[in-house]
Amino acid sequence: MSGCPFLTKQHLLKSKLSAADEEDDSQKGINKAIKGGISYGDYLQLDKVINAQVLQSEVRGKKIHDEHLFIVTHQAYELWFKQIIWELDSVRKLFIHNHVRDERNMLKVVSRIHRITMIFRLLVDQFAVLETMTALDFFDFREYLSSASGFQSLQFRLLENKIGVAENLRVPYNRRHYRDNFQGEESEALLRTEQEPTLLQLVEQWLERTPGLEKDGFNFWGKLQANIDEGFRVEKHKLEKMADDETKQEMLEDLNKQIELFNALFDSKRHDHLLSKGDRRLSYRALQGALMIYFYREEPRFQVPFQLLTYLMEVDTLMTKWRYNHVCMAHRMIGSKAGTGGSSGYHYLRSTVSDRYKVFVDLFNLATFLVPPAWVPKLNPSVHKFPYTAECNDSSYSSCGSCSSEED
Ligand code: HEM
Repeated sequence: MSGCPFLTKQHLLKSKLSAADEEDDSQKGINKAIKGGISYGDYLQLDKVINAQVLQSEVRGKKIHDEHLFIVTHQAYELWFKQIIWELDSVRKLFIHNHVRDERNMLKVVSRIHRITMIFRLLVDQFAVLETMTALDFFDFREYLSSASGFQSLQFRLLENKIGVAENLRVPYNRRHYRDNFQGEESEALLRTEQEPTLLQLVEQWLERTPGLEKDGFNFWGKLQANIDEGFRVEKHKLEKMADDETKQEMLEDLNKQIELFNALFDSKRHDHLLSKGDRRLSYRALQGALMIYFYREEPRFQVPFQLLTYLMEVDTLMTKWRYNHVCMAHRMIGSKAGTGGSSGYHYLRSTVSDRYKVFVDLFNLATFLVPPAWVPKLNPSVHKFPYTAECNDSSYSSCGSCSSEED
């Protein structure tokens, strides 16, 4: 007899039975809800959240349909802002209490910053839903917003400040300080975030401690400068030996520009000048640490730090995209009319899509200073081990008490 010897009548019967069993399995749960305990709606306080959409519009006794979408969209944004602040605060705390000395906490930092980038990704795309509303639909209820404006979003300002948007680099709002639009507790909360350590400052302090920067140790910066000087000297020598023609001239000009660029990199006074203008935001030593992490990113010690720097740039990129998508949407909804908050509207918003608002701008600019691998100072693996931490060399799974817990 042909066919599968294992598929006997008995087997077929069995498989039919197990299908019936599965059906039954789907109903095997226990109805816990009726036994008491907190319910879904209570846990999420849905009575508050779902009943918080109060439409202001009223035309001939009817609400304007799209105002509901407008409110829900803003509320969704505000909830996500809240989550971002939650993650930011936890990461700042880990840095403030120096828990980042423990590698396990570094992973926590990176995961949370990554989470923030994922939320921002969602927020950047979320404008598309509101854009299903036309300018005409918006016009129908805009007057009911009165002077309410996204400019008054406290959480947006808090998260900008906590990341490190510099107060003195902000575009003035109708020639006034951004905080003037907030009063009482809100204004105080904003002031506090300007005075507390920002993510930028904490990352800066952490970068300043990058192992390998010590002059009496690996002396990364000194070695790098020497290698680059030598690299350029060899290149120039090669070029000078070429026949005199236009190409040689162009190549020499190019090389001289490169040399100038790197001379400026190794000039700490120039760095301070750029810092005072807001064109650089990291201290000179932190910049060196960041470049070191870039060059040695494949070293086990630098893999996680490199990931962190990548995610920090991602935060900046996504915030810029958020500003860009927001201004495009505002333009299409209100053209060049003034904003409900009183700004010039589109023109004001457009001026905020700028590097002034980029917090980790130095990390982007580091790509200018990448050099051929042969110019990067060589590590001697038996000498330059760069252990993660001196204090926390506990190999047990649970983190060592003095420097791991984020709770204290
Ligand atoms: C129809 C949709 C929207 C329009 C036409 C619009 C328009 C504007 C305008 C004109 C401003 C400048 C301030 C002013 O004068 O009012 C502004 C600021 C702002 N809006 Fe919107 N907006 C819209 C949707 C949103 C949404 C969904 C959010 C999400 C929370 C939002 C958040 C903000 C924030 C945070 C600011 C301050 C930006 C800054 O100063 O850098 N807006 N908006």
